[in-house]
Amino acid sequence: MSEADDKGSIIHNAFEGVESPENYRSKEDIEVYRRMLLEKTEAQSGYIQRHIGDTGNVFEAGTGNGRLLLSLALRGAIEKGLGVDVAQSRIDFANLWAKDLALDARISFKTMDLLAFPEPSASYSMCICITGAFGYFPFLRENGDSLTLDYFNRLLDSNGWLLLELYNHPVNKRRCLEEKDNVYRHWEELPEQDPFSHYLSERTFDPASRVMRHRKIFVRRSDGFIDDSRMEALRLYERGEVMELLESRGFEVLRFDSDWRDTVFKDGDEVSVVLARKK
Ligand SMILES: C[S@@+](CC[C@H](N)C(=O)[O-])C[C@H]1O[C@@H](n2cnc3c(N)ncnc32)[C@H](O)[C@@H]1O
Repeated sequence: MSEADDKGSIIHNAFEGVESPENYRSKEDIEVYRRMLLEKTEAQSGYIQRHIGDTGNVFEAGTGNGRLLLSLALRGAIEKGLGVDVAQSRIDFANLWAKDLALDARISFKTMDLLAFPEPSASYSMCICITGAFGYFPFLRENGDSLTLDYFNRLLDSNGWLLLELYNHPVNKRRCLEEKDNVYRHWEELPEQDPFSHYLSERTFDPASRVMRHRKIFVRRSDGFIDDSRMEALRLYERGEVMELLESRGFEVLRFDSDWRDTVFKDGDEVSVVLARKK
């Protein structure tokens, strides 16, 4: 296996199977989980609707279970959408959900490695990559962040919108650097609707590459089954780097917030929500 394949499988293993059917005991379990996802997406889809209104045709990279595009559609804030993700089980979950909501004629989901950058078959008025997923790309491929922005630029109509949510992990980064072995470990509890009850979190940060690696060991609620296959690696950015990167790839940054409630970002904040437009 090449180093690139190996890195790809790290990210792939982090998410493949998260929404596999065997994690739910009944259709009701799935409904409860879907409702919980929509509730937690309200702030994100609300932000988009507030700042953009009707988004038109949206492309979402690393869409996961499809919650954002479906939430936008339920609000009437999107005409059409395509969500892509490498994890087949998540795309299956998203497509079934869209079908159950009778939204599948407008919102679709496709299994795709974004970093393969396939020739676009449509143009879009907005590209979105949230929940920190953008930070995987420079770990997975050299200049993966610039290449991804260039791809979004090709997908977008003139003046098209770009929305990124980046995770900065200032506290986790400091905790890693404080530990002698550079490893920071702790337990996290999951909401009671989640098939997994908690996970052990193990992080390392490399100051040279600015990559944080995060391994999670999950415990399944129903039977205590241990799933230790999930590891992700994220490039962390400072505000100035993001501004420079976006400007250099042909985007004008319009908002730089630290949450989905329009709070203006300050150095040291956990999250960056960046709304930009193609120049
Ligand atoms: C943190 S999850 C976020 C999912 C979704 N955006 C959300 O907010 O629920 C990141 C997603 O990115 C996907 N991903 C990672 N590398 C990818 C790639 N090269 N191409 C497409 N999707 C990728 C993962 O499979 C995962 O579902």
